[in-house]
Amino acid sequence: MRASENAGIHQRIGQRIDPFLQALDTAGLRRNLLLPSGIDFSSNDYLGLSQHPLLKQGMAEAVMREGVGSTGSRLLRGERECFTRVERKFAAFKGTERSLYFSSGYLGNIAVLSTFPEEGDVIYSDERNHASLIDGMRLSRARRVIFPHNDVDELGRLLRAHNGMGQQFVVVESLFSMDGDVGPLAAYVQLCREHGAALIVDEAHAVGVYGARGSGIIEEAGVGQDVFLSVNTAGKALGVGGAFVAGSESAIEYLVQRARPFIFSTAPTPPVAAAIETALDVIAMEPDRRERLFSRARYLRGLLDVLGTSQIIPVIIGENARAVAVARELQAEGFDVRAIRPPTVAPGTARLRIAVNEGLSETTLQRFADALRAALSR
Ligand SMILES: Cc1ncc(COP(=O)(O)O)c(C=O)c1O
Repeated sequence: MRASENAGIHQRIGQRIDPFLQALDTAGLRRNLLLPSGIDFSSNDYLGLSQHPLLKQGMAEAVMREGVGSTGSRLLRGERECFTRVERKFAAFKGTERSLYFSSGYLGNIAVLSTFPEEGDVIYSDERNHASLIDGMRLSRARRVIFPHNDVDELGRLLRAHNGMGQQFVVVESLFSMDGDVGPLAAYVQLCREHGAALIVDEAHAVGVYGARGSGIIEEAGVGQDVFLSVNTAGKALGVGGAFVAGSESAIEYLVQRARPFIFSTAPTPPVAAAIETALDVIAMEPDRRERLFSRARYLRGLLDVLGTSQIIPVIIGENARAVAVARELQAEGFDVRAIRPPTVAPGTARLRIAVNEGLSETTLQRFADALRAALSR
């Protein structure tokens, strides 16, 4: 093919994508890659572990010991002791038989949902589930049924109406990433027992934070025995990156043998696993971080008069352009707040997603609440 033919092909694709990009501008939906700047009110580093000296040291020592890359899939030459060690430690943390480490929560969710539900099965999914859960379900041959957010009664009705032979799965987040509210896990467990359904819980924003050990809302709700699998990111409260799928010995072994994102991908870089081991130690040794996080979240919720308890506080604004304008005003005052727009959230519900972290002082929270009120009133 000659260079001029290539140029023609590229131009044709350009004609398709340029109007799309322009439409994003018109709708106020174009995203910008903005570096962190100002006081952190938006990251998921809830416990401040991404900057913890022990984690940095653990990772640096592992770099010197193990090098930087794993060099292959874990089923080939990419396997390392640090992976199995951190998986054992994570399983003990969650109270499960076994866990499996993935290089991201996105991949962990894709792995679980593209591997277990099969043709003839049904997956019941909360309408506000994360994109990675949705994408995983799209890769599955099972039928998908979406139920209204946190609606136990409706889920019960749907499960009762089921008359097929296949396995049923219920898929939810324990702490919803964009709404900051908690899924009613105990009620789901009850329904799953009644209907023989398997419960899959994404603990992305709860792991490291909730429960006496800090292992998540499954622990806090005391439903560990009834959860089929949980997916737990290590890039949020754990401060590092990657994710653990936790569950029974046989379910995890099945993933090792069958999950394509596990099999056909280079293993994570080993020093990350070393840093996560340290993160788990720090979570056990420094429970005051979690206590401070909850106290700060409570304090800010009080100032803003928002019900709930979690560290994720949504301020729903509605219109995309206005959400961006309010976020910009706060950024100009030194607060790193980001606007969240569709398709991440439903149309008409653009918002600021305020994420509290344990390092914010009450004085800063007070200043932030004043600035937010002023920006919203303009
Ligand atoms: C609920 C939920 N699940 C899964 C993920 C994906 O996790 P990761 O960022 O580790 O890919 C996220 C993060 O964006 C999330 O919020």
